[in-house]
Amino acid sequence: MVGRMTATSSLDGTVLVTGGAGYIGSHTVRSLREAGRDVVVLDSLELGRREAVIDAPLVVGDIADRDLVVATCNEHGVTQLVHFAAYKAVGESMEQPAKYWRNNVAGSVELYEAAMAAGVQDVVFSSSCSVNGTPEITPVTETAPIHPESVYAESKAMVERILYWYGQTSGLNSVALRYFNAAGASFDARIGEDWAYSQNLVPLAMKAVLLKDRELSVFGNDYDTPDGTCIRDYIHVADLADAHVKSLDYLGRGGASTAVNVGTGIGSSVLDVLNATAAAAGEPVPYSIAPRRDGDPVTTYADPRFAEETIGWTAQYGLTEIIDSAFAWHKSQVDLGR
Ligand code: WQD
Repeated sequence: MVGRMTATSSLDGTVLVTGGAGYIGSHTVRSLREAGRDVVVLDSLELGRREAVIDAPLVVGDIADRDLVVATCNEHGVTQLVHFAAYKAVGESMEQPAKYWRNNVAGSVELYEAAMAAGVQDVVFSSSCSVNGTPEITPVTETAPIHPESVYAESKAMVERILYWYGQTSGLNSVALRYFNAAGASFDARIGEDWAYSQNLVPLAMKAVLLKDRELSVFGNDYDTPDGTCIRDYIHVADLADAHVKSLDYLGRGGASTAVNVGTGIGSSVLDVLNATAAAAGEPVPYSIAPRRDGDPVTTYADPRFAEETIGWTAQYGLTEIIDSAFAWHKSQVDLGR
């Protein structure tokens, strides 16, 4: 450990990944290891899966456990932090707001305090395009108004502000990555999204075509879009993972704290997703048209230019790779009886 303690760049130390047993976290752990970084994962395993942590040690515990975080950082020579661990269900956040304020907001404060006490310099934080609410202008840039429309989204916006102020008061450097619609699985079908917990379109479309136990509800087909359904920016989880690796590099090179939109810049409709799923499955997705869902923006997609300018990142994959990899993963899980 002595060599690590004398590191001159934060890039020479270990990366602590909270929530590294979760969906995006586990892909990021893998990408960091492939980039040659030392990694330690902290995950409560409440929603994460032990087997999703590939090639890195796992510490089971809570982000708000200060002694555990300090001890983990010291033991592993942690210099950089990637903070995923959070609840992310928009509907639940409106019913149980305290859960989101406690874990997503207060838990993040405890984590940052402990990490800074242990010498951590750089943080990459999982934020969300939902901090902008329903965008007035697309593509969405980083200067778009912050206008959360749920407790979940507000919890992300608050932690962005908390990070801004830690930059001012403590010199902590951070990148808040505002994810658009994360989807897809690893190309070797080893890790992917657990559809048991997800209410998102791609896993629900996979469920509908693979299990055939229910029709997918398409929430509205009378919007002012080319096919009448809502438009989103679906981003492959491997591309998202790469954005974290590049953000840590950026911070390690002395990059200034900022927030970055992480999307492809390309919008796809709900029916585009269902058509791509049908192509992957070789059969149509059973669906019916349902009423519009409350609070759904009609159209949102990222302006990806700032991500390229700052962290040097652009998406490599599109909707076909997202859907093909998601289908292969979910089919493998069904075949295994999961
Ligand atoms: C996508 C599209 C639905 C389910 C969520 C969070 C947001 C961010 C990204 C993390 C919409 C339609 C969906 C269904 C459907 N997450 N749909 N039938 O709402 O764009 O964004 O993930 O920070 O905060 O809110 O994602 O996957 O729920 O919906 O027609 O059964 O699919 O109307 O147009 P959303 P989603």
